[in-house]
Amino acid sequence: MPHLLRIDASSRQEGSHSRALADKAEASWRAAHPDGTVTTRDVTDGAIPILSAATTAGFCTSDDAMTPDLRAATVRSDRLIAEVQAADTLLISAPIYNFASPAALKLWIDQVVRLGRPLPSTMARSPGSSRRAGPFCAWPMGLGATALAVRWPRQIFWRLTCGFCCAF
Ligand SMILES: Cc1cc2nc3c(=O)[nH]c(=O)nc-3n(C[C@H](O)[C@H](O)[C@H](O)COP(=O)(O)O)c2cc1C
Repeated sequence: MPHLLRIDASSRQEGSHSRALADKAEASWRAAHPDGTVTTRDVTDGAIPILSAATTAGFCTSDDAMTPDLRAATVRSDRLIAEVQAADTLLISAPIYNFASPAALKLWIDQVVRLGRPLPSTMARSPGSSRRAGPFCAWPMGLGATALAVRWPRQIFWRLTCGFCCAF
């Protein structure tokens, strides 16, 4: 069954343009996948902390050498990665804050991009599309900050999957 993982990163719950764009993208995806399911993760809810020393140590430790403490320090990352791996379409909505992506989105990326844990290479390029490449991003922006703000997530997802597609 097709599954879409939606990541929202605007601090605004009400009046958010990026969330409104993502609503449209999600509706389009649902129309194309009537039997599909959707998981939404709001990365602004404060549940994702900055990477701790224990978490980064866990990321760099092989499975057979993991201690209970290191496992505990990486369990959040395990869960977030499992959410990505369970999806065949990834929809990210985010504003630009000060020429960059929101810090909350970076916190999520720091948890899901991890040595030895490849993200699926078969994600659909955009909602409703059968082309398979990378995540679809809903990114409202104002004053021409496009290149700077989108460059790093594009590089991350391009390398980890196959592609990246934006709607402004
Ligand atoms: C603190 C802050 C910084 C911003 N910095 C930029 C920026 O550097 N470049 C830009 O194009 N827009 C910037 N904006 C405008 C937002 O990207 C824009 O209002 C966007 O619609 C916010 O997303 P939202 O509507 O989903 O909340 C900034 C907005 C805020 C609140």
